[in-house]
Amino acid sequence: MAGMKDIRNIVILTGAGVSAESGIDTFRDGGGLWEQHRVEDVATPEAFARDPDLVLRFYDMRREAIQTKEPNAAHVALARLDREWEGELLIVTQNVDDLHERAGAKRVLHMHGEHLNAWCTACDVRSPWTGPLLDRPACPQCGAAELRPDIVWFGEMPYRMDEIFEALEQADLFVSIGTSGAVYPAAGFVRNAREFGAETLELNLEPSQGTAWFDAARHGPATALVSAWVDEVLGL
Ligand code: APR
Repeated sequence: MAGMKDIRNIVILTGAGVSAESGIDTFRDGGGLWEQHRVEDVATPEAFARDPDLVLRFYDMRREAIQTKEPNAAHVALARLDREWEGELLIVTQNVDDLHERAGAKRVLHMHGEHLNAWCTACDVRSPWTGPLLDRPACPQCGAAELRPDIVWFGEMPYRMDEIFEALEQADLFVSIGTSGAVYPAAGFVRNAREFGAETLELNLEPSQGTAWFDAARHGPATALVSAWVDEVLGL
């Protein structure tokens, strides 16, 4: 990597691989199935319209499961970088767990939503939520029983894309961690970053689908790779 002296603004993209060692299943490892349903068949507005109970049960289970998990060394290292890095830094995560935050990271952007929010389709307000939605609880804001998971489903627009592209435009370094590069627009961020002149690095268990777009790539478990990389970036 170029001398760290000329790196000021960093954008980090994380995917399910950064939470894998916390015991949260990734999407495409191990078949990506749930109760014989492909996740892609559950995480869609059509599935929700067709069988809302199935979709709500799926997300109730995952919302409950993530609350039993702990951040791992990769989350902790990224939180440390967030705390100590004096330049700009943004962790854009595709993950809908809160492990980055629970490790202490502040500058986190959830582009695919968050398990621990409920989104009211009546008043459009998102409220913190840790319990189930299957029993159609009332929206804390408006009282309607119209709460859905605050998750960006296939076919829906990811959140805060303008902020993400602004950060990519300013980035000197773009680091992709624990993502397969299978789902757009996140899978295209490395190309955007290159076009904007950033240096690009991939940290992943194995080469991702976009690995050829990266200036450098390191392969192995995130808990080892990310901790070592953060030490390097902080000049330790
Ligand atoms: N350390 C580092 N990388 C890992 C580890 C690990 N311990 N375990 C798995 N990985 C890597 C896998 O090699 C894979 O490349 O993490 C990546 C996980 O890829 P996916 O399961 O496709 O997850 P992700 O890239 O986050 O999926 C993107 O797709 O299903 C949608 O919206 C969903 O946000 C998700 C998006």
